[in-house]
Amino acid sequence: MLHGRKILLIIGGGIAAYKSLELIRCFQKRGASVVPVLTKAAEEFVTPLSAGALAGNKVYRDLFNLTDEAEMGHIELSRAADLVVVAPATADLMAKMAHGLATDLASTLLMATDKPVMIAPAMNVKMWEHAATKRNLETLKHDGIHICGPDEGGMACGEFGMGRMAEPEFIASAASDVLLNGPLKGKHILVTSGPTHEPIDPVRYIANRSSGAQGSAIANALIALGARVTFITGPARADMPIGCVIERVQTAGEMLKAVEKTLPVDGAIFAAAVADWRVTSASDSKIKKNKSGDLPTLSFAENPDILATVSQMKKQRPKLVVGFAAETNDVIDNAKAKLARKKCDWIVANDVSPETGIMGGAENDVTLITPTDTLDWPRMSKDAVAQKLAAEIAKALK
Ligand code: CTP
Repeated sequence: MLHGRKILLIIGGGIAAYKSLELIRCFQKRGASVVPVLTKAAEEFVTPLSAGALAGNKVYRDLFNLTDEAEMGHIELSRAADLVVVAPATADLMAKMAHGLATDLASTLLMATDKPVMIAPAMNVKMWEHAATKRNLETLKHDGIHICGPDEGGMACGEFGMGRMAEPEFIASAASDVLLNGPLKGKHILVTSGPTHEPIDPVRYIANRSSGAQGSAIANALIALGARVTFITGPARADMPIGCVIERVQTAGEMLKAVEKTLPVDGAIFAAAVADWRVTSASDSKIKKNKSGDLPTLSFAENPDILATVSQMKKQRPKLVVGFAAETNDVIDNAKAKLARKKCDWIVANDVSPETGIMGGAENDVTLITPTDTLDWPRMSKDAVAQKLAAEIAKALK
């Protein structure tokens, strides 16, 4: 699907550089041709020979030489591509890009290009979380640079966390979406995510085990397809999606207000694990132990059902409303009943029994139920579920 497209692949100097060799293959598999550019540091990790042999193209290296300049100058090189991909994008390369430095071939090409640029950051978790990297990331997003990843996981340095380069397949498909302009371009989609916290008193609350990982993955997948996403999230542990508007809320009531404020939208995906009840007698001060040993009693009120409210709106109902059904038994029957009761268009059913390890885990096993189909997808990563769902949403909102 990328036949005839040219990708300038800038390989930065990090251990993830070895994955960029696989990335060349992923682009080629899609029909694109790749021109690799290696930074000086990248040559410590992969050889120009391997990158050139895989790409079947001349490799451009940091050593400016007269022959290269005579064959193709850096301006021409930066413009000959349809897309510039930087993978791995090290903290150093991101900093150079954010500050407009042109001190080597890679950074000069990035300054000179008039084509879309996508980066796949990869670095140690502390470097990723560093305030300077965060500032640079914001600047790059503001400059319209497409960001792919990073992922969470074990790193070569032995630490664990955010900073691992996204998988080559994922980078290649995100790059394809940029090149193909994204089927969700021009669509505004709202995604709710995470748990809600319902206060008991100023220091205690009722919550649930949702990590928000599936919601973040869905937002990222929709963004990758070109959607404008508003992400409304309770206090989630998962990383926030990159490249969208994020509204943070605590309670179900606040989540409903944030959703209503965001309407109208083209699509709404309700992935949040909203608390069904709130404490009516929530105290303004910390509830103290009673000397006589009496135990406190909590009374509950039902929270608004955000999904049902939006699904049944007369005005401003989004064209596509998707709910989730977190079930522990009779998953499909319960999910179908939920779809009918709440009047959403689709429901994504999943079994959240503790033995499945789905709630709080990295994988999901879902069935997408629409009025006409019941699509039982095999167990896969939450990112993969998100990409499949985003693809279905793109078809429905065409
Ligand atoms: N939902 C919502 N507002 C609520 C409760 C749920 O928007 N107050 C949404 C969830 O985001 C999800 C769907 O409704 O998309 C189903 O949530 P789930 O927790 O599975 O169902 P419940 O409505 O809580 O129903 P039950 O208690 O019968 O399982």
